[in-house]
Amino acid sequence: MKSIGVFDSGVGGLTVVRELIRQLPNENIVYFGDTARVPYGIKSRETVIRFSIENILFLLKQDVKLICVACNTASSFALPVIKNYFRAPIIGVITPGVREAVYASQNKRIGVIGTKGTINSRTYETEIKQLDPKAKVVSASCPLFVPFVEEGWLSGEVVLSVVRGYLKPLKDAGVDTVILGCTHYPLLKPVIQQVLGKDVVLIDSAKQVACEVKKILSSEDLLNRGKGGRPAYRPGRHSFYVSDNPEWFSGLAQRFLGRQLKNVKKVNNV
Ligand code: DGL
Repeated sequence: MKSIGVFDSGVGGLTVVRELIRQLPNENIVYFGDTARVPYGIKSRETVIRFSIENILFLLKQDVKLICVACNTASSFALPVIKNYFRAPIIGVITPGVREAVYASQNKRIGVIGTKGTINSRTYETEIKQLDPKAKVVSASCPLFVPFVEEGWLSGEVVLSVVRGYLKPLKDAGVDTVILGCTHYPLLKPVIQQVLGKDVVLIDSAKQVACEVKKILSSEDLLNRGKGGRPAYRPGRHSFYVSDNPEWFSGLAQRFLGRQLKNVKKVNNV
């Protein structure tokens, strides 16, 4: 049975895998985390595009039927350029998040936070404006959030004061909806909500991405089926590959995936 391929710059894409497993429990998943070259958030467009193509070529060798780009930076920089290079459907995390944000916002002031690469690419802004030309978009890069999450700093005075600093322009602009445009940011949701106030809607695109994957597999008749075309009742198999340091990846998996991971394989050919 073919698998769903997912890639990210490192461990953060496991938040998307968690949702895929929840919504598509019978599907096989192959995950690749580019831990040798993380972070992507501070790299140039050309480099992120090159890494993304290499990651996709690796996944295609694993016999995947659809590719999900779980990394926001790769989705912002690479997806618009590469999505037509390959025959397999390729889904990113930007469009599903944008759709949900435009739907949720009442006052049409939408905030976007992400890595420097994601924010500088202006992909979120462009897509929001395409869907709602009247929307006002206020963006902010939050480069300290990824190390905070990876170090397990999810609350406390230091975190609170950094979050306050980064989110000030969004708060001042009176946004009523904020897209958490980075794989790691959903883990900082409580402190972000505390700073922005309980009425601001926080959009974590993982759920919408998994819905989109399900829709495409279903419309292209690619869902995992049992004998005679019946739905498969066997739980899907999940494989995890990284380009470096499988121990580090396994150690952080619990935080992002909600369970421990054994058997993370290191590959050298990416
Ligand atoms: N996965 C990246 C993203 O969602 C965050 C980590 C990195 O900078 O590579 O943008």
